[in-house]
Amino acid sequence: MSMICGLHTLLLLGAQLILSVRAMTVPTSQNNFFYHDFLKGNSKKEIHFRGVKLHVDSAKPSVFAVRGGNVTMPCRFWHEPELSSPREVRVKWSWLPAAGGHETDVLVSIGSRVRSFGDFRLGRVQLRQDFPGDVTLVVTKLQLNDTGRYRCEAVDGLEDKSASVDLELQGVVFPYQHPRGHYHLSFLGARQACEEQDSTLATFTQLFQSWKEGLNWCNAGWLADGTVQYPITRPRVPCGGHSLAPGVRSYGRRHRHLHRYDVFCFSSSLRGKVYYLQPSHKMNLTEAQQVCQEHGAEIAKVGQLYAAWKFSGLDHCAAGWLADGSVRYPITRPRRNCGPSEPGVRSFGFPPPQDKHGVYCYESDDE
Ligand SMILES: *[C@@H]1O[C@H](CO)[C@@H](O)[C@H](O)[C@H]1NC(C)=O
Ligand SMILES: *[C@@H]1O[C@H](CO)[C@@H](O)[C@H](O)[C@H]1NC(C)=O
Ligand SMILES: *[C@@H]1O[C@H](CO)[C@@H](O)[C@H](O)[C@H]1NC(C)=O
Repeated sequence: MSMICGLHTLLLLGAQLILSVRAMTVPTSQNNFFYHDFLKGNSKKEIHFRGVKLHVDSAKPSVFAVRGGNVTMPCRFWHEPELSSPREVRVKWSWLPAAGGHETDVLVSIGSRVRSFGDFRLGRVQLRQDFPGDVTLVVTKLQLNDTGRYRCEAVDGLEDKSASVDLELQGVVFPYQHPRGHYHLSFLGARQACEEQDSTLATFTQLFQSWKEGLNWCNAGWLADGTVQYPITRPRVPCGGHSLAPGVRSYGRRHRHLHRYDVFCFSSSLRGKVYYLQPSHKMNLTEAQQVCQEHGAEIAKVGQLYAAWKFSGLDHCAAGWLADGSVRYPITRPRRNCGPSEPGVRSFGFPPPQDKHGVYCYESDDE
């Protein structure tokens, strides 16, 4: 059977039929429209040609979550007017990573059949389906790199509607330098450096949020999108001068292999805990690694120290070794002899490994 689409007006005036039609034949579909006629109060008969409209909506355009936690991204579809009998609607969730790249499939479902893809396989995602049309996505065991824009799309015949939900993680952004010093990291080196410190390359949104919370850093670092930027809250001479307004300053997109900078890494809350350890004597780096292991833990990574400082309020005015060979300490309540007047993770850089210090260990909660 053939169908007429793009039918603008259909009026029945007595015996006279006036049709304004842009006719187009569509071979199969017959589920998009239906005819609805009724009598108006006056003598004029009108036949209304009405489409059943498909709607898709999310109650929350953005959601916040923490690493390791679960997140619920609401989405529902419905037809207007309501259908007399249910129809099979295809639903697809896809994801545009905040770190950049292409939109990829997360999950598709038709009726009761559901399939998930990529990093989301193996039960990390499910559809809630609490009521007809509920296609809310639940993601468990969230990872740092799960952030981005999730799109919920419903397809019914030729109709195709979607709504999106932005997923952000609560976290902390920290600047990171290569052990050999300032401006040593290519883009790939930067990504690896963050991963080695239990974190991921920060996105612009994450850096911008940290700037709003007061991050003031004069060295430029890579971000996930391949741009190089730095956040300035208090303009001063060595950071572009007083004439520039506070803000996140950008060098734009840089060459991923040739150009070298520092990096901004992003970490979120931790399963487990970070603590300071100083046995009867201070230790060189090798001894520090060993003493954590003897306590059933491991020497903490920089991202773990920042997460403990930000989310557990870790405050310890004693310098300790970390996994990358740097020496740092976390201060949430600034006081005399514990560095500057703002809270922060203080760094002594990368001292020679035979130097003697305490150590920060990380004990994971995972079974
Ligand atoms: C996340 O969801 C899973 C399964 O739905 C549940 O077992 C787990 O306790 C949840 N975790 C958190 C942190 O809520
Ligand atoms: C995201 O992070 C997880 C865990 O750190 C890792 O296994 C996975 O490969 C990462 N995925 C992408 C797309 O980078
Ligand atoms: C740390 O001290 C031990 C002796 O207690 C020594 O064997 C080791 O080589 C030292 N490591 C470093 C990096 O200095």
